Amino acid sequence: MSDSFAKQLLAWYDHSGRKDLPWQQGRDAYAIWISEIMLQQTQVTTVIPYYQRFMARFPDVVRLADAGIDEVLHLWSGLGYYARARNLHRAAQRIRDEHCGRFPTEFEQVVALPGIGPSTAGAILAFSTGSRQVILDGNVKRVLCRYHAISGWPGQPAVEKRLWALADQHTPHERVPEYTQAIMDLGATCCTRTRPQCEHCPLHSGCQARQLQRTADFPTPRPRKALPVRTTTMLIIRDDHGHVLLERRPPTGIWGGLWSLPEWPQDDPLEAWCARRYGLTVRQPTPGAVLRHTFSHFHLDIQPLLLQSRSAGHRIMEPGDIVWYNTQQPDARGLAAPVERLLAQLASQIT
Ligand code: ADE
Repeated sequence: MSDSFAKQLLAWYDHSGRKDLPWQQGRDAYAIWISEIMLQQTQVTTVIPYYQRFMARFPDVVRLADAGIDEVLHLWSGLGYYARARNLHRAAQRIRDEHCGRFPTEFEQVVALPGIGPSTAGAILAFSTGSRQVILDGNVKRVLCRYHAISGWPGQPAVEKRLWALADQHTPHERVPEYTQAIMDLGATCCTRTRPQCEHCPLHSGCQARQLQRTADFPTPRPRKALPVRTTTMLIIRDDHGHVLLERRPPTGIWGGLWSLPEWPQDDPLEAWCARRYGLTVRQPTPGAVLRHTFSHFHLDIQPLLLQSRSAGHRIMEPGDIVWYNTQQPDARGLAAPVERLLAQLASQIT
């Protein structure tokens, strides 16, 4: 492919690309890695303050590796997709222990780290070393699906393979960091999912979807199934001071490592379950309004149940995995998103 694609994109980048983002000020692979992970599923404007707080607290890989996971999750609170933060922390520990605290420079070593797929590994290396790397994130897939009018959901292995081959053909041998940023920016700002701004697009003359007037048909959406609904009951147990019992979730699975409200399994009488699990005497169960939290694969309908606890309880669980939380003076810990909402509602009712 004689690549007018790359030439047009680079010319566009020179006048319209983003060049002054905080992580673009050097070639520090650690800083670039943090930014690339934050930018997955999240827009630049949302990421910037999180990135600045994170880098101020964890300026290098060893500082991140040595930190407790609670503090890492706390600084991530609000960005969502918490597996990203847990993987960052685990990867930092691997870099500290296996790579002498220096971010690796070989693709195979980078892609072997937790939470780093081939496209992110390519982006980090392109930005930090300037080497020729191919990337294919969601934005790039959209640009290529439109430019080549490729049918079929890009998550399908055959379609994805074709897109990688096209991404490789278009990637130039010079100015790779600029090209990488340019194609990401084009997808994020111009070739957007809805209402692409084709009149401003540097690639519009060669874009097949545009020629066919079918930009809305590409990329082919994922075949949709109706999301199943699951239900759970969360207990908001308050002690005499109005503090709420929180429990740390196991490290893996939904909200792994985050703090959450107790989930009553319902197959056991409530009072007996609370006594056995927490050593608590509870009374006055009062249901609150159901809160729906939607994950990528299901809806979770949460029935909150307010309870008063008469005693502080014995320490039946590991002391580090349970806490009485003051909703009026929240402290630094990562809370599961709907738990944060439930506690905020509770705090606003009290004040
Ligand atoms: N999404 C992922 N990485 C990005 C980057 N470097 N710039 C803009 N959007 C991105």
